Amino acid sequence: MKDWRNGDLSGRNTFGIAARCKRWVEVDSEEELMAFLPTLSTADAPLLVLGAGSNLLLTADYPGTVLHVNIKGREATVEGTDVYLRCGAGETWDDIVAFCVQQGWHGAENLSLIPGEVGASAVQNIGAYGVEAKELIVKVEAVEWATARKVTFSNADCAYAYRQSRFKNEWKGRFVITHVTYRLSTEFRPCLDYGGLRAHLSSDHPTAEELRRAVIDIRRAKLPDPKVEGNAGSFFMNPVVTRGQLEALQRQYPQMPHYEVDENRVKVPAGWLIEQCGWKGKTLGKAGVHDRQALVLVNRGGATGADMLALCRAIQGDVQRKFEIKIEPEVNIV
Ligand code: FAD
Ligand code: EPU
Repeated sequence: MKDWRNGDLSGRNTFGIAARCKRWVEVDSEEELMAFLPTLSTADAPLLVLGAGSNLLLTADYPGTVLHVNIKGREATVEGTDVYLRCGAGETWDDIVAFCVQQGWHGAENLSLIPGEVGASAVQNIGAYGVEAKELIVKVEAVEWATARKVTFSNADCAYAYRQSRFKNEWKGRFVITHVTYRLSTEFRPCLDYGGLRAHLSSDHPTAEELRRAVIDIRRAKLPDPKVEGNAGSFFMNPVVTRGQLEALQRQYPQMPHYEVDENRVKVPAGWLIEQCGWKGKTLGKAGVHDRQALVLVNRGGATGADMLALCRAIQGDVQRKFEIKIEPEVNIV
């Protein structure tokens, strides 16, 4: 266990925002976590659970305790073609994907190279290239921080939806996730239908390694590396609009791309809306819009959380005025 006063968060958020916290605690096991939670005094509250900080915008120093769950471990149980893999919340997500591909356990390939840790995968319902974590998650184990009581949630309990879960909404700040169990399969049924993926593969029957490599190559070409330019991936979620709204907009913008959600609703790529507003590659103060993916806001060097928020608001305002669509941040603003 680590326990420091006046912790430095600069290297702990992929935006690279300079910030500190009153106290920094890192636990290496569930036992350490259960022993620590009841000792947290009101003087050291509130509590923020931090994974790798890859979906977080810090707008100020944190006035309480930042807790990192560094629980490692992978336990697999095979039942027929199903593989149940229970992972510690502190495992790096992409190490798990690489491990599964190597073992011949399938289902996570499209989620290759998403930054962050296992704990957050169950908070964020991470998604990419037509697959979401909710399709793999079967069980989430956590500790309620106010009572230090252990709880286990099923997939249905978590109310997963596009980049949403109960952990992000009504349960925000209530539970510390310790383990996540994913269901993979020894059968490989690749999902290749997401735009651009098939075109990147040399055959319609790739191996799992080839699929993982293609996803990694597309991501590297499009997304900025946080080690080079601070960012948190997509800053906004893709908005969902009604078919009526889409038809009205298409009269003015016939090329507006969209993806089916259900009978009545479609998803519009926020990157397109932002690009149409002229923001792609632009800079406001020390904050900027990536030149290859307008949905990604970047720290041009020395930006504060307030600089990033000012750019966020300017973009939201322009998109609202031009398209009458409200785009909401995907990143957690603290
Ligand atoms: P953090 O940012 O540290 O935390 C995220 C949230 O989870 C916070 O609310 C935090 O309190 C909570 N949390 C973290 N750990 C725990 C825990 N153990 N218990 C309870 N709560 C916890 N996301 C996608 O979905 N798809 C992508 O394709 C994608 N691409 C990205 C590309 C780049 C370059 C970057 C920088 C980010 C990208 N992201 C993507 C966003 C990010 O990778 C995910 O949201 C990821 O799940 C965040 O993991 P983290 O460990 O860094 O979480
Ligand atoms: N587009 C533009 N201009 C841009 C960017 C995008 O016009 O600058 C349009 C294009 O029409 C393009 C479409 O948007 O075809 C979709 O772009 P892309 O495939 O890059 O995906 P996205 O919708 O921008 C989403 C996720 C990503 C995920 C990719 C791949 C959200 C908020 N973002 O991005 O997730 O990796 O799809 O599945 O849903 C993240 O959450 O941090 C993240 C990076």
